[in-house]
Amino acid sequence: MDFIDLKTQQNRIREGLKVRFDRILEHGSYIMGPEVTELEEKLAEYCGVKHAISCSSGTDALLIPLMAWNIGPGDAVFTTPFTYVATAEVISLLGATPVFVDVYESTFNIDCEELELAIQNTIAEGQLTPKAIIPVDLFGLPARYHVIEEIAKKYDLKVIEDAAQSFGGAIRDRKVGTFGDVAATSFYPAKPLGCYGDGGAIFTNNDNLAEKCKAIRIHGTTSDRYHSELIGLNGRLDSLQAAVLLEKLTIFDEELDLRQKISNQYRANLENCQYIPNDYKSSHALFSILLESTQEREKIINKLSKNNIPNIIYYKTPIHLMKAFFYLSYQKGDLPVSEKLSQTILSLPMHAYLSEEDVRLIINQIQ
Ligand SMILES: Cc1ncc(COP(=O)(O)O)c(C=O)c1O
Repeated sequence: MDFIDLKTQQNRIREGLKVRFDRILEHGSYIMGPEVTELEEKLAEYCGVKHAISCSSGTDALLIPLMAWNIGPGDAVFTTPFTYVATAEVISLLGATPVFVDVYESTFNIDCEELELAIQNTIAEGQLTPKAIIPVDLFGLPARYHVIEEIAKKYDLKVIEDAAQSFGGAIRDRKVGTFGDVAATSFYPAKPLGCYGDGGAIFTNNDNLAEKCKAIRIHGTTSDRYHSELIGLNGRLDSLQAAVLLEKLTIFDEELDLRQKISNQYRANLENCQYIPNDYKSSHALFSILLESTQEREKIINKLSKNNIPNIIYYKTPIHLMKAFFYLSYQKGDLPVSEKLSQTILSLPMHAYLSEEDVRLIINQIQ
C-alpha cells in the first residue's frame, strides 16, 4: 500500500504524456513553451478566475505576490504555525514579520477570532504595520474566507490564500483560487494536482497584480527580457511540467470524487477526523486524525507500520517552535491548539486509487 500512489495514476495518462513529451522534444521550447500557455488558460477556466500564472513552486507562488506588494521590513503578515514551513518562510525571506495565529481544533485552519485579536494587538503595540493575511487551506479544506475577507476589509489587509494543498476544493460555488486577493497553489508531485518536479501557480482577478506577478516571475522583466523593471526571480515553469499537469487535469475531477469516497469511508468509521463544515469541499490532499495522546499515537504508528501501512505526521513541529524561527521569540504554550495538534495528529494513506479493502484494513488496525 502507498501513502500516495502516483504509479497507478501514471499508467492511466502515460500514452497522453508520451504524445505531449514528443511534441516538446520537437518544438524545443523547454521553458514557458506553448504547454505553459495552454495550462494557464485551462487553470483559469477551471477555477473561474481571470488570471492563472504558472510558476516554479508553491513557495514562489506565495513569494511573488508578497514581492508585488512590496512587503518587507516593518510589515506584519498573519498566518498559522500549523502548516508547511514555506507559508511562513516567504514572509521572513522578505524581511517582514510572520505573526502566528492559532487554528481551530476542529478544522485545523486559522481561527478568525484569534486573527482579529492578533491584528488589534499588532496595531496597539505599534511596532509593525499589518499588511497581509495568509490563511492556509490545510489538508485541502478551504479556510473561512467569508469571515477572513471581512476582517481584511475592516483593517485594509491583503489576503493570499495558501492553496498549496487545496486546488480542486470549494466553498459553495466558489472554487479554491478565487478567495482573497490572490491564491497560491503547489504542483509538488504529492499534491492533489501534482507534476513530476516542482511547480506552482498564482490565481487572481486583479489585472495589475497579475502583470506584476508575471514580471517578477521572470526577473522583473516585461517585454524586454534583458531590461528588468522590478526586482524579480527565476520563477518560471517548464513545458514538461505543464504537459504533465495538462494530462492530469483530464482526470482530476474524477480523482477528486474518488478521494471524496475514501474520505467518506474513513469518516464513517473513525473518530476525531478533520471537521468539514457544510458547503465546504476539500480536495482531500491528506487525511488526518487526532489521537488522544502522543503515547497513543506512538502505539498506532507502530501498529500501522508493522502491518505495512504507511503513515506520516503532518506537522510534528509547529513553525513558531522551529529553530529557524527562534528569532521571533515565541515560547512553548503561545499557540496551544497548534501545539496540541502537533502532538496528537496522524495522517493516513490518501489517494484516488486506494481500494475500499485497503481503507477497511487501515480502519480495522486503528479501531
Ligand atoms: C501549505 C503549503 N504551503 C506551501 C507549500 C510550498 O509548496 P512547494 O513545495 O511547491 O514550494 C506547501 C508544499 O508542501 C504547502 O503544503
